[in-house]
Amino acid sequence: MIQIHSPKFERLRTDDKVLLGTDAPSLVRPYLRLWRDETATPLISLNEVAAEAGVGSVVIKDEGQRLGLGSFKALGGAYAVMTLFKRMLEEHLDSEVSVAQLVSPTAREYASGITFCCATDGNHGKSVAAGARILGCKSVIFVHEGVTTARADAIGADEVVRVKGNYDMSVDEAGRVAEERGWVLVSDTSWEGYEEIPSLVAQGYTVLANEALSQIADLKLDPPTHVFLQAGVGGFASSISVHLNEVLGHHAIKTVVVEPDRAACLYASAEAGRLTSFHPTEPTIMAMLECYTPSLVAWRILDATSSAFVTVTEDEAKRAMRKLAFREQRPVVAGESGAAGLAGLLAVAADPHARQSLGLNKDSRVLLINTEGATDPASYENIVGSKPADVLPEATNVEN
Ligand SMILES: Cc1ncc(COP(=O)(O)O)c(C=O)c1O
Repeated sequence: MIQIHSPKFERLRTDDKVLLGTDAPSLVRPYLRLWRDETATPLISLNEVAAEAGVGSVVIKDEGQRLGLGSFKALGGAYAVMTLFKRMLEEHLDSEVSVAQLVSPTAREYASGITFCCATDGNHGKSVAAGARILGCKSVIFVHEGVTTARADAIGADEVVRVKGNYDMSVDEAGRVAEERGWVLVSDTSWEGYEEIPSLVAQGYTVLANEALSQIADLKLDPPTHVFLQAGVGGFASSISVHLNEVLGHHAIKTVVVEPDRAACLYASAEAGRLTSFHPTEPTIMAMLECYTPSLVAWRILDATSSAFVTVTEDEAKRAMRKLAFREQRPVVAGESGAAGLAGLLAVAADPHARQSLGLNKDSRVLLINTEGATDPASYENIVGSKPADVLPEATNVEN
């Protein structure tokens, strides 16, 4: 389903623009040095997709290869953990500390008494756990019933707690336990009274948008005119959308939000004209997008910046995964949620009314983001029919 939406740019708040705008990536980058890995992820031209979709060009940024964690989420949760830890340490020592000093012996001693926690479908928890591990803090990650064992095992936290029910319930439980135990909750979704930390998480994601724009310029291509962004609670889509709008200007770029039709909480909110939960029916293979209540901040932003909300089916997501896997040159290993943006583009491209409303034509330049690699390799093989290592040998380089 495709819902054309009128963006309300005038409603975009100044603090959201500042937090996610032009300067945001330079605030995040120093923290990436603590990973000892500042490698940009690849940007790949999908000429055959551009021909199929009847647009000028399509490029995809492959976040499956981000920081050895298999998804763009590595940029957000870990960054928020490090930023919060810096503040706590400065308060503890009553003096300023540099990013490099966050791993000093004094910092480590303080870190050992601190626990970070969050709820996750998999990838955000991996990022929070990695941030805590780099600093020497503890991490406890809450997962719901639907998270596969492979994904839960790959989180790498000190403790992974299974919660009965769905993602929204695991968010509630993580919040309750954090309050009870004095842990620091680093959620990637926001609600009334809890906006600052999820906004830091979203700020971390701006690095990938900034990298994509530089890579596009390096290829001597013009900037994108359309971006298709897959959404769970919407933090990712809101971050990239604001960053591109701030850098390129509102009239230069259109944002299309893509969700599974089985978990379309932003689509439902756009339809209702206010933040609304989606009533779950069946689980989706796009497990990282299986969220039923939008993030408050993300909804506020996407209502202001999006030109369309699109839902995709399970089969459309599978087809997009295979299309990326079986390219003649430079195959892309995209997990179920990673390929959803491409599925959204193909759905819109096949709909004449949507094409016209969005100005999608032979002159359009589309940016897609493969948000994850094969984060559940068995599920990937089952859908694509090949192991990730057979599709692209270096894509197996995901830390487990
Ligand atoms: C691979 C992947 N893609 C997209 C998303 C969507 O991000 P958000 O929940 O911020 O909308 C997630 C969230 O976990 C994810 O892991």
